[in-house]
Amino acid sequence: MKSGGLFSEYCIKDVLFKNRLGVAPMTRMSSSVDGIPRRDVFEFLVHRAKSGAGAVYSEAIVTDYESAQGYPRQSRLSTQRQIEAWKPVVHDIQQEGAVAIMQMFHCGRIATPEVNPAHRSIAPSPLAPRQNNPLSAAPYPVPDEITFFDMKHVLLGFVETARGAVAAGFKGIELHCAHGYLLSQFLSSYSNQRGDAFGGPVENRFRFVREIIQAVREVVPSDRLLLVRISNWGVVDMDVELFNKEEYQEVIRLFSKEPIDAISVSTYAYDQKVFGTNQNMAQITRDVTTLPIFICGQIHDRSSAENALGDADIVLSGKSALLNPQWISDVRQGRPLPPRRSEEANIAYTETQLL
Ligand SMILES: Cc1cc2nc3c(=O)[nH]c(=O)nc-3n(C[C@H](O)[C@H](O)[C@H](O)COP(=O)(O)O)c2cc1C
Repeated sequence: MKSGGLFSEYCIKDVLFKNRLGVAPMTRMSSSVDGIPRRDVFEFLVHRAKSGAGAVYSEAIVTDYESAQGYPRQSRLSTQRQIEAWKPVVHDIQQEGAVAIMQMFHCGRIATPEVNPAHRSIAPSPLAPRQNNPLSAAPYPVPDEITFFDMKHVLLGFVETARGAVAAGFKGIELHCAHGYLLSQFLSSYSNQRGDAFGGPVENRFRFVREIIQAVREVVPSDRLLLVRISNWGVVDMDVELFNKEEYQEVIRLFSKEPIDAISVSTYAYDQKVFGTNQNMAQITRDVTTLPIFICGQIHDRSSAENALGDADIVLSGKSALLNPQWISDVRQGRPLPPRRSEEANIAYTETQLL
């Protein structure tokens, strides 16, 4: 475990984390047509900061009005009204001493055409996931193969949303490159079978992600953090590993050459041994990067949090932080806490148990 432990301070550049415990990004599907989350969802975030979190993530924010959206009622952050709505929330989170981080994504082939103005989905290759859409139970449509015109449009969506987050005051901006969404689809040969400069070897599959990182960095000032999130699994076709060990580590090496400030690693279970090795995902990541590492996955009480911090710099909780309003103080006091199941989190998805 790190010297000082879970409740020690940590700095990335000049951004101070007052402790090592954060609330993971969680989509809440609460926005109405204006793309602004419901008040109680905002209050949920502020409440987690008040209860002592060192970092609080937004839900995943959709990056453009064409084909990015994957779920009903998702949030956006590119109009003045949306920026004005987030400002006091970000202020209140950071007033409590937590670092507010905005995560953004494009859903790619697991977008839902019906909820997108362009009524289409786009992806690196015209391949639908095997699994049906869990919300509608219908098959996902075969996406259009993304063109160079589409790529430029998608990139601008990430840049505009990052500008919105900077204007709203977020200290961190995260590119969601995990869970089988668009950027993850580019990185993995499972979904990227292009024959051009954006497909094939890992370096080519990384090319679009690199272009987005570099364009987004231009609008994220050096006193704010730019992070990426990565995983070896996706929210559909969950049985598929997106990388082998060599590919995964190559992606991490490529990330490490870019102007980013941290890598957030998303797992089912932080301590699970992976790629047929004796190591967990954080260890496999640490072997090839010196960047700060965030880790998440079944970190539910003091001992799992301390354990996870042995291989990472910040530990995040999703379900426990969602379902237990006092999670941070319960961890601080070492209370016995149960691991949480996805079914419980689904019940608490939008309406109830927010505070
Ligand atoms: C309701 C819910 C919504 C989620 N939405 C997102 C999201 O928008 N972006 C993301 O990167 N991960 C999302 N996740 C995954 C969590 O950030 C986290 O990685 C996952 O729940 C595993 O951590 P845990 O075992 O502590 O819950 C979501 C999880 C839950 C339970």
